[in-house]
Amino acid sequence: MTNHIETLLAQLTLDEKIALLAGADAWHTVAIPRLGIPAIKVTDGPNGARGASRNGIHTSACFPVGVAMGATWNPELVRQIGEALAEETKDKGAHILLAPTVNIHRSPLAGRNFECFSEDPYLTGMMASAYITGLQSRGVGACIKHFVCNDSEFERFSISSDVGERPLREIYLRPFEMAIKQAKPWTIMSAYNRINGVWASENRRLLVEILKGEWQFDGLVMSDWYGTYSERATSNGLDLEMPGPARWLSRQHVLAALERGELSEADLDDKVRRLLRTIERVGGFANPATTAERANDRPEHRALIRRAGVESIVLLKNEGQLLPLDPAHPQTIAVIGANAHWAAIMGGGSSEVAPHYVVTPLQGIRARAGAQSVVEYAIGTPIFRRLPNLDPAWLRLPGSDRLGVRLDYFTNLDLAGTPERIEYLNTLEASWFGDQIEDLPTPTFSARLSSELLPAQGGRYQLGLSCVGQARLWLDDELIIDRWDKDPMDFSEQRQTITLAAGKRYQLAVEYRWPIPGNWRAVQVGLWPEREDDLIAEAVALAARSNVAIVFAGLTKEWESEGFDRSDMDLPGRQNELIQRVAAANPRTIVVLNAGSPLQMPWLAEVAAVVWAWYGGQEAGHAIADVLFGAADPGGRLPTTFPKRLADNPAYINYPGENGHVLYGEGLFVGYRYYDRKDVEPLFPFGFGLSYTSFTYHNLRLSATAMRPDERITVSVDVTNTGARPGTEVVQLYVGDSAARLARPDKELKGFAKIALQPGETTTVTFTIDRQALSYYDPAVPGWVAEPGEFVVFVGRSAADIRLRASFELVAA
Ligand code: BGC
Repeated sequence: MTNHIETLLAQLTLDEKIALLAGADAWHTVAIPRLGIPAIKVTDGPNGARGASRNGIHTSACFPVGVAMGATWNPELVRQIGEALAEETKDKGAHILLAPTVNIHRSPLAGRNFECFSEDPYLTGMMASAYITGLQSRGVGACIKHFVCNDSEFERFSISSDVGERPLREIYLRPFEMAIKQAKPWTIMSAYNRINGVWASENRRLLVEILKGEWQFDGLVMSDWYGTYSERATSNGLDLEMPGPARWLSRQHVLAALERGELSEADLDDKVRRLLRTIERVGGFANPATTAERANDRPEHRALIRRAGVESIVLLKNEGQLLPLDPAHPQTIAVIGANAHWAAIMGGGSSEVAPHYVVTPLQGIRARAGAQSVVEYAIGTPIFRRLPNLDPAWLRLPGSDRLGVRLDYFTNLDLAGTPERIEYLNTLEASWFGDQIEDLPTPTFSARLSSELLPAQGGRYQLGLSCVGQARLWLDDELIIDRWDKDPMDFSEQRQTITLAAGKRYQLAVEYRWPIPGNWRAVQVGLWPEREDDLIAEAVALAARSNVAIVFAGLTKEWESEGFDRSDMDLPGRQNELIQRVAAANPRTIVVLNAGSPLQMPWLAEVAAVVWAWYGGQEAGHAIADVLFGAADPGGRLPTTFPKRLADNPAYINYPGENGHVLYGEGLFVGYRYYDRKDVEPLFPFGFGLSYTSFTYHNLRLSATAMRPDERITVSVDVTNTGARPGTEVVQLYVGDSAARLARPDKELKGFAKIALQPGETTTVTFTIDRQALSYYDPAVPGWVAEPGEFVVFVGRSAADIRLRASFELVAA
């Protein structure tokens, strides 16, 4: 097949080669039909395969987010997720999934932490390798991203991550390097930001010298969407500008770069060769036909998502063994909190998918609690930033009894004439990405979303309209909210109080227009009952009369998202107060938290149990209930340190940056490496998580007391389940260098194993230590150095709970 690529390369004209350097549109590469070169399609990524539309035309399986996958510490499971995601990607007619995200949790505030696996490069690299291996084993390409140091959202299109050579190599590049060497991803995405002053998409040192040179990466480098900034993108290692049409990798700029001698013909051929190789790898030449998008809700993916959810959930506190609850024991259960009903199953931004369905925590608990138990719900306190979407069960297609919303598109700005296209949605929310909407011949357009509103409950409501663009909302031909002349970029919400009668049908229409060039537009209608009463008091009363209270708190995709960072580590709204008052009313209070990054827990001492459930995908409610009722052991361990307060985080002093630069001033001391060295006690350490059973570690032994750099040492440890229940444990291996010429962290994760043990059962866990596990990067060499001397191996349950240690010598070769 390689010959095929060379033959094609020889036949392509210069103009054709240049045309291949940028996308055709938001999600496709350019085809050259004359030579049988097909377009291939990419899609986001990473917790599902969304497809071209953001509006749920074809729903997708929604998997747990990246940090939840990281919390499973189970590469084999993540490999299976990769395989499943390959099927999902194919359902959307795509060849490449824009995933996984392997940036590092540097600050708890970073908006995309939920997408990334961990604060630790080794855990990240192992998870990424497993994900990519699974995905590519089924013929779908991975696009590992974002290369590199895209670790916060503040000024994300321009900020320079100023990072020293050692942390760059040992922390930020390392997961990419591991994944590229172990799993060989077919593509990689450059980041939006600059690194030490140079844009990622035109960074010769990173793309040409390190990635393609040192690491011998033979795949394709594509830009992040609109992440190209100058003509320098033509000649510094970027192969494909996305999305299309070309801006900087255009004919004009590429010809000029060739003329100036900055880009050679050989370099141009190399870029094209990489694209052709990618097309070949994803089977594009063998199957050039495009496939339509479809939704395929597979039972086996449901089961995998539920299992992954269970394996990601971290039990943080369990006083008096309150958990697990006994499903056979009749009890009254108070379920409290907005997230129990409006399930937080994913983070915000480009990784969002329209799930096939959502199992809410309330539904999951009802299904598990047993017929003898009574489950009651109270919201406690709403945490919406915008009013929540209109309940789909209240929306009928115009003139019909079928659920839904009709969406008419017009190619003019005033909804004139017959619609160019019609789509059907399930709620009054739509967004569009890309310079041009699929199948619409114009970049500007207008649209009408229409539905019949059939309220199940009457009363006074707040109705909200927000949009990027301009919009107005009509109810029974009365103009209720008018945002027809507002600044199109203002995404604030305008609210209006209305009165609705139960069972009456109202004609609801939202007119929308997008008058300017741009690539991101949205419109949303929310509805929420206007209530004067104290919702917290209602929840407290429910808790007081129940045997157990389960409070669901945390963040949502409105609070934790791509595009912005959080401003603090606090629970939004009045959630702390809710938890405190419920705990005061019921000593058997369990808090379940949904979030992708650490939260402050001022009430920790007052509650009996805390369960950390991340964003668990469409089966989140079942997975949480499986853990609460003991159908499964909480399998997750923290892949990131939870500090007691934001100021303890090592990035704190330099975050978010100023004058276009963020200094990675903590150097190598990211996450537990810092808490170790500074002896700062975190709220919960890296690797932490309780089980419903207990484990002992014994009999640590090394295969030798000394090794040469070309040798390996085997570390074995016996682990016994000493409790009464079956359980899962994550055995962690850290290595420390007793004395080194350069500064090194006290210890670093170099191995882990997830095991399942029956009561009384013992197993032996074995790890291998090689030269790389002992090495640091010395910029003076430059290269990786394993320095002779004593090394200590630490085996434990978390970075702060080391059970056994032993040492050995590295002797010179
Ligand atoms: C994100 C990428 C994503 C791309 C396409 C960008 O805004 O940073 O992660 O793959 O959009 O949606």
